[in-house]
Parts: sequence; structure tokens; C-alpha cells
Amino acid sequence: MSANAEASAGYDVKDLALADAGRSSIDWAYQSMPVLQSVRKHFIRTQPFAGYRIAACLHVTPETANLMITLRDGGASVVLCASSPFTTDDGVAACLVRDYGIATFAVKDESDEMYHRHIMAAIDLRPHMTIDSGCDLVATLHSSRQDAIGDVIGGTEETATGVTRLQVMAREGVLQYPVVAVNDAATKHLFDNQYGTGQSTIEGILRATNVLLAGLKVVVAGYGWCGRGIAARARGLGANVIVTEVDPVKALEALMDGHRVMSMGEAAAIGDIFITATGNRSVINREHFDKFKDGAILCNAGHSNVEIDLGALQRAASSRKEARPSVDEYAMRDGRRLYVVDGGRLVNVASAEGHPAAVMDVTFANQAFAVEYILKHHRSLEKRVHPMPPELDRQVARMKLESMGVKIDKLSLEQEKYLSSWAEGA
Ligand SMILES: NC(=O)c1ccc[n+]([C@@H]2O[C@H](COP(=O)([O-])OP(=O)(O)OC[C@H]3O[C@@H](n4cnc5c(N)ncnc54)[C@H](O)[C@@H]3O)[C@@H](O)[C@H]2O)c1
Repeated sequence: MSANAEASAGYDVKDLALADAGRSSIDWAYQSMPVLQSVRKHFIRTQPFAGYRIAACLHVTPETANLMITLRDGGASVVLCASSPFTTDDGVAACLVRDYGIATFAVKDESDEMYHRHIMAAIDLRPHMTIDSGCDLVATLHSSRQDAIGDVIGGTEETATGVTRLQVMAREGVLQYPVVAVNDAATKHLFDNQYGTGQSTIEGILRATNVLLAGLKVVVAGYGWCGRGIAARARGLGANVIVTEVDPVKALEALMDGHRVMSMGEAAAIGDIFITATGNRSVINREHFDKFKDGAILCNAGHSNVEIDLGALQRAASSRKEARPSVDEYAMRDGRRLYVVDGGRLVNVASAEGHPAAVMDVTFANQAFAVEYILKHHRSLEKRVHPMPPELDRQVARMKLESMGVKIDKLSLEQEKYLSSWAEGA
């Protein structure tokens, strides 16, 4: 049966015969996800989602599979579609369908048309809750699929870009249900954005290009959670890091952390490798293509494939060819060559394996708790973006520490009293 024909059977994956490979990856990741393992045991006991339907739009990876299985084991009917057309692990998708009975709609390198059709298929489940990564599922529900929105009691959002879109929706008064910004949990952006993106972005660049980072000038655009992680790891490998920013506080922080800070216009002329991590579009654009050195390498670890203006690069170049798998060479009219990794898509996902499972353990424990929180509190939550409740954030951190065998101190009664009193001075 073709993948599309299978869609009518409640899933659309590349090939169910890939399920064995997917199973090995899911099991391998699970070993590094002790916090999610504890949450799963708790959900199996308490069955919080019995009778509820959850639609998730996430990168279809082994770690995501373990979150889906955790929610299913908590009693939910779960449907999963991809949050990017390019990042699906076809084996994982097949295994979720074959071994776990989880309706999955995702095929690696699916067309835009298929990507949107898969989101529609997830909405067809008429979910009570949404888990989104980038806000495409929520935006579709609020535009072309208003028919299904009445059933939704709340949702969660995984990424900074998604949270920004949701905040605009809330400001414009169109958001029709409460959403918890999992991205904003301290334990999410500390682990996932900073350490996960930091390590895996460098890994992706090295796998794709095989460059020696030591001694190179690496320009990081954006000094948010992802950018600072990337900058720290690049420096750890001996690179000379330059940061570009639009926020003066972040720029100052980068400077105090020991990086050089300048505008992209200045950095373009001296950098060897450029990594965008801003969530913004056209951060590298026509103005910069004219300045880059021969051999400059351009990569993106921020949002989708919009941070480098590839349309403008295409127009400015005389030709393009594949220099290596995952690396395109653009020949400029003056003879310089510019290299774009992974077509400007997320280099840590396309050329590496995304975040290690130990990182996603923390992020997805937050997701699982956030979905349970929505279920318990949706009646009292306004239709806007809500922060991750700090007590859940701390609970996730506590569980991660416990899983690593690390004990920390507790405040004594005397200390608690001291910290909560204004009367006691020095
Ligand atoms: N690759 C991944 O696996 C991965 C993981 C997590 C987040 N992300 C994405 O990475 C992006 C950044 O996430 P974050 O958590 O670091 O966000 P953040 O908001 O903490 O940081 C973004 C930074 O970019 C800066 N910025 C915006 N426009 C800029 C411009 N034109 N030039 C220079 N700096 C600019 C902002 O001032 C901000 O400091 C988002 O799109 C997010 O969705 C990717």
C-alpha cells in the first residue's frame, strides 16, 4: 500500500518495514530518559488522560516517540504529525504505528502540501489538547480548522518562535484556548536550547563540513539561549567567537562573557563560519553576501529555513552546485565561493541527531507535566500564553538531579525565616 493510501487507515508513514530500526532507536533513547521514565510510571498508575485526545505536532524523533508512549500510557488517544517536513525519522514513525498503535502522520522530506495535509489529519482526531512546536498546528486550528477548535481545552508550545506567534495571537484576541509555554520553563531552555542546541549544532557543522574549528572566527547571530550555548561550545573547541545581536542587554552579556560583539555588517567581512540562532528572518541577507570572504560557511540553528535569505543568495550567485552531501556551494560573480549547510535548515537536526536524549528527557518531562496541568486547571486559565508553573519546573529539576544521584541542600528553618523577613537586617 502506498503511504498516501495508508493515510485513510489512520496513519501515513514511509514504510512499516522500517519499524524494527525505529524500535531500536526509541529503546536506546529511553535509557537516557530517566525523568520521563518516572513520569510514565506515575501516569500508568494515575491514568490522568483517560478519555482525552491529544494531537502533537513535534519533530518525529526517538525522544518524541517516548513522550507519545508516555501520554498514551497515561490513557490518552494520541496522534502525532511532524513539526518540520525534514526531520522525521521514518523508522520511528513506522514503529509508533506498528508497535504502539499511535496514529502517526509524518514522512521525511515530505512536500509542503503533505506537511499541511498531515496537520489536518492530526486535527481530524478532534483533540482536547495540542502539543505544538512552532505553532503551525495551533495556527491551522485557528484558521482553516475552526470546526475542531471547540473541543480543545488547552495546549502547550515547545519553541521560542511558537511562543512568539502565540503571544501575537493572544494580543490580537484570537487565541481561543490557554497555552502553556513549555519553552519558557527554566529547565527547558537551560537544557534544550542551551546545552542541546549548543552541542548538536557544533556536531552538525562538523559532520557536514569536517572543518577544524580551532582558530576559526565563528560568528553567532543571536545571544539568546541557543546562541549562548553555541558560542560557549564553539569557544570550547578553540574558535574565536563573534556575537551579533539586536538587544543591547544580550549584546552586553555576550561581551562580558568574553566574546567579541559587532554588527553583522562588520562580522560578515571577517567571519569563517556563520551560525544564526535568532528566530528571526533574513538575519543574513543581500547586504552581507557581498562582504563574505571566499569560503565562508553559512548555517542556521534558529528557526525553520528563513534566517538566511537564500532567495537573495540564489539571485546574487552565478551558479550553485553540491560541494559535499549537505553543503551547497554558491559561486559569486566575483569568483568568491559561499557554502550553505543543509539548505539553511536546522543544522543540528539535519546534519546531526538533534538534541541528545538526556536533554529531551528534561524538556519532555516538562511537556508531560504541562499537559497534565492544562487538564487539571484549564477552567481557571485565561485564553492566553501561560508560563510553566515554577513548582513543576523545580520538580523536573529535582527529578533530573535524583536520576543523576545528586543531592542538594535544603533551607533550614532559620534560613527560611531569614529570607522571608524584612525586619532582620545584616
Ligand atoms: N535548532 C534547534 O534545535 C532549536 C532548539 C531550540 C530553539 N530553537 C530556535 O532557535 C531560535 C532562538 O531560540 P532561543 O531560545 O535562543 O531564543 P531567544 O529569544 O532566547 O534568543 C533569540 C535572540 O536573537 C536575537 N535576535 C533577534 N533578531 C536578531 C537579529 N536580526 N540579529 C541578531 N540577533 C537577533 C534576540 O535579541 C535574542 O536575544 C528560535 O527560533 C527557536 O525556536 C532551535
